[in-house]
Amino acid sequence: MATRTQVCIIGAGPAGLLLSHMLHLQGIESIVVEQQTRAAIEGTIKAGVLEHPTVELLGQLGVGARLRREGFAHRGIGLAFGGRRHRIDLHGLTGGKSITVYPQHELIKDLIAAVLANGTAIEFGAGAVSLHDIDGIHPSVRYTRDGTGREIRCEFVGGCDGFHGPSRQAIPAALRQEYLKVYPCAWFGILCHAPPSSEELVYAHSERGFGLVSTRTPAVQRMYFQCAPGDQVDDWPDERIWAELRARMANDEGWTLKEGPIFKKDIIAMRSFVCETMQHGRLFLAGDSAHIVPPTGAKGLNLAAGDVALLARALGRYYRHNSRTDLDRYSAIAIKRVWRSEHFSWFMTSMLHEFAGEDAMTRRFRRAQLDYLVSSRAAATSLAENYVGLPFVGVE
Ligand code: FAD
Ligand code: DHB
Repeated sequence: MATRTQVCIIGAGPAGLLLSHMLHLQGIESIVVEQQTRAAIEGTIKAGVLEHPTVELLGQLGVGARLRREGFAHRGIGLAFGGRRHRIDLHGLTGGKSITVYPQHELIKDLIAAVLANGTAIEFGAGAVSLHDIDGIHPSVRYTRDGTGREIRCEFVGGCDGFHGPSRQAIPAALRQEYLKVYPCAWFGILCHAPPSSEELVYAHSERGFGLVSTRTPAVQRMYFQCAPGDQVDDWPDERIWAELRARMANDEGWTLKEGPIFKKDIIAMRSFVCETMQHGRLFLAGDSAHIVPPTGAKGLNLAAGDVALLARALGRYYRHNSRTDLDRYSAIAIKRVWRSEHFSWFMTSMLHEFAGEDAMTRRFRRAQLDYLVSSRAAATSLAENYVGLPFVGVE
């Protein structure tokens, strides 16, 4: 069974859904092909922090209403080390910008609702998805659904299928330069029923490693701590988790964590990855299919939004003016912002974690960097402008 559309988008994560919606607003048709069920992607706990440019973009696209109502704007973050908490005044240092805490799966629900309301099909539960003829003028995407083979014939393919999807692999290996760094640690994440421990997120460094106090709602909190890469969820009963979080947050100021029943535990791998190029023929990669950041800078979802903002505009120009100029430059332009975020995420990770086998000098350098950040307005401004998000390129 074959269907036709202008752009076939693989993956209904933030990148794929946002791309479909931005294309629709420009009068461009798409179909989204997703391997998981709707319930699965609407229920997967992932990111929590939206940058200022992401929030602005979602507002402009008409999908920011619930996020404005239910999200929490934060004007600063805490950096805790050496027994003290220091505040980075994001708002004051960036001319009034802030970040918004809004769970990724809530954003996914908003985007799915918008895409379906546009009349765009999302093919949930697609199996054996494969890309064909991406370097010709008639690419197609094949998959199975409900036991039958299906094909979407299209003009362009949006490869928004995350790190493990087939899109990146469809670019010939000889044309791809891949950069990978695997960190010798992982993050252990929890959700618990408790009131907030702090009004703002706290990124903590201690000799035992990294810890992060984040939030979801006034009654549900999200916290993370650095663990060993091979750790399993079952290695961490609740009491061990709280003991470790208390130790990571130990301070001389009398500040303590508000604890409560844990109802979700997960382990997140830590890596930096970039695929150059992000395009080949009529295939364009966006989001985690092209790059991964360690979560410390809260950049992954935001970087996906930045790619899509650029790609949707380039496709819009193609269909309005029959010009491939912007499409041809997509990867070259997108990759600069990607590397900036990659560097920031690596910087935050290196500054806040402890790695086995490090020498004493590296540890002293880390402490010198932290001391500099909280004593120099210039250093704090640099962190703040990266954290709230640098402007999306190519967006008018
Ligand atoms: P994905 O969300 O991975 O979506 C890809 C989609 O493609 C998925 O739905 C998948 O099912 C589908 N797919 C895969 N293979 C196929 C196939 N073969 N066929 C069809 N479909 C396929 N980022 C932030 O910006 N801020 C944060 O605070 C933050 N915190 C994080 C915390 C955690 C615990 C984790 C895990 C991540 C965090 N991130 C954060 C990163 C962020 O979640 C990702 O960068 C983001 O999901 C990337 O979006 P994407 O659409 O590119 O990819
Ligand atoms: C959250 C995740 C992050 O990666 C981060 O840096 C800050 C907050 C979160 O899930 O709340």
